[in-house]
Amino acid sequence: MAYPKYDYLYPRVKAALSRERFEHVVRTGEYAVHLAELNNYDQDKAQIGGLIHDYAKERSRADFLAEIDKKNLDPDLKKWDSSIWHGIVGAEFAKDELGIDDEELLNSIRRHTTADIEMTTLDKIVYMSDFLELGRNFSDTDVAREVTDQSLNDGVAWQLQFSVTRLVRNHWAIYPKTIYAYNHWVGGK
Ligand SMILES: [Fe+2]
Ligand SMILES: [Fe+2]
Repeated sequence: MAYPKYDYLYPRVKAALSRERFEHVVRTGEYAVHLAELNNYDQDKAQIGGLIHDYAKERSRADFLAEIDKKNLDPDLKKWDSSIWHGIVGAEFAKDELGIDDEELLNSIRRHTTADIEMTTLDKIVYMSDFLELGRNFSDTDVAREVTDQSLNDGVAWQLQFSVTRLVRNHWAIYPKTIYAYNHWVGGK
């Protein structure tokens, strides 16, 4: 499965994002290198996963809705919004516009917004790097980084616990896949 090099992708991702978000994805790539090193994963590929994970985050609602039809994705997706679309649907833009044919990279984009029951090492690295990159500063960031350095799986559980709690506290909807992921990673089901 093919994917372009970091140096090819960098200016293309930069052109698609605001300065602030671009800096976030670059830092996510850097954090992904750190987690890849700790988990004996391909550091270059992890950095690319971090760089491209939010490639589609600034696309319009109309763009996402058209893409759901064009690619025959689950029509139920239309009930959600760009917080969900930029992962699941965003992978399609990364595939077509950035030339990412590697299914593992595409899945890491798809899963970074929702998590999933089954997650590869790359999925976990991108999911955790998005959350822990050095620009992130929520309460207990240091604890979450420490937990994740010790165990990527424990990190995934930590973030799911944190995210689901936040969604519930704010009375926001929870994407079904995230509930299944929570039951699996936190609840052991
Ligand atoms: Fe994202
Ligand atoms: Fe992100």
